[in-house]
Amino acid sequence: MQNFVYHNPTKIIFGRNTISAIGSETILWGRHALLVYGKTSSKKSGLYDQVTRALTEAGVSVTEHGGVRSNPTLDHVRSGIRKAKDHGCDVIVALGGGSVIDSAKAISAGAVVNHDVWKFFIGKKSIKDTLPLTTVLTIAATGSEMNSGMVITNEKTREKFGFGNKRLFPKVSILDPQITFTVPADYTAYGAVDAISHVLEFYMTTQDPATPVQDRLMEGLIENSMDACNRCLQDLKDYAARADLMWTATLALNGLTASGLGRVGFPMHMIEHSLSALYDIAHGAGLSIIIPGWLVWFSSQNPERVAQLGRRVFGRSIVDTQSTQQQARETHIALKKWFDSVHSPTSLSDVGISATDLPAIAENALKLAKVWRLSAYTRESIEEILRLCL
Ligand code: NZQ
Ligand code: ZN
Repeated sequence: MQNFVYHNPTKIIFGRNTISAIGSETILWGRHALLVYGKTSSKKSGLYDQVTRALTEAGVSVTEHGGVRSNPTLDHVRSGIRKAKDHGCDVIVALGGGSVIDSAKAISAGAVVNHDVWKFFIGKKSIKDTLPLTTVLTIAATGSEMNSGMVITNEKTREKFGFGNKRLFPKVSILDPQITFTVPADYTAYGAVDAISHVLEFYMTTQDPATPVQDRLMEGLIENSMDACNRCLQDLKDYAARADLMWTATLALNGLTASGLGRVGFPMHMIEHSLSALYDIAHGAGLSIIIPGWLVWFSSQNPERVAQLGRRVFGRSIVDTQSTQQQARETHIALKKWFDSVHSPTSLSDVGISATDLPAIAENALKLAKVWRLSAYTRESIEEILRLCL
């Protein structure tokens, strides 16, 4: 195990009927909130009313910034920053999923500087300060509620870039699984795929050959993502299943799994972000397209790592008597089958992308590979992976 520092400062309030705590938690950080939320779901479900009431009762005044779309955009972030500055907001409240929380993080960083917020994303400026952020999570998926990352799309340049900074951790996140009863089946599945992908990225790109604690933790999170998702899809209002999925997704990307693994990468996300940027595909749907192809490609470099995952997670169908290569192959097939079973797309052709589109996708992904310093990924290798996803 390699040296590491694990410091996650986000307070989690988890469980039934916890939403009203957003008022008393937010007033600890500021008196005038910019409330960031999405398109329609929070108003339809009554959640928006609950949150605004709790804020007002606690003495927090509210300026609104709704309408965040999935795969959130830079222009909408910029207008949120203008509002936060014009209204003198001293705290940001996010009510939504990863798109809303990421927008809120970008606003919290952009509201305290005079330069354009995109400079953070392209590495031209670093974050030295932010407005405090509190969140109410409405969908289990990204882990943004307990991590320091954010992902925003620049529509002009068609770049979907993400990065992390320790000042972006939310101060507090409220996770009430009941809120996720209204998440439709497709986004429930995409969220589980996303959680799985976060674990897989680190599991596969670990720099350390002996991390048994982390391995078992990660294998458990992958198994639980699949199991909880299956149960949610049988009954969207199954509290225990929603709770399991929500907490699994949070733990999948809160720094814990990567601790001790050395410098890990995020290559499947690097390629997926180009699908979202160019075709506006839901993040989880893009990942279930990329993961199987990437695993085939990666199996030629490290079949044992892929095989280990298969033996431990899909034990029954993958056995020691098979060769390592066969086990790795069975692993990618088993995972793909599960993606199919929850109706998340598993090939580029499923979403109308053909071989002629691959060079443009690779070109786009290469820009993020450079920003993320994934130097092993060239235009050629990205295209090769994409061909395996057709
Ligand atoms: O906009 P509304 O109407 O609220 O609808 C949303 C949206 O259409 C809906 N939804 C959310 N909560 C709901 C609900 N519908 C019914 N009931 C509820 N309770 O779900 C749809 C998707 O929401 P979104 O926030 O886009 O989903 P997700 O949480 O998957 O976030 C995806 C974004 O996060 C980024 C992705 O790239 C993508 O842009 N990521 C952020 C990460 C991070 N900050 O650490 C890591 C991830 O890898 C990911 O890249
Ligand atoms: Zn993700």
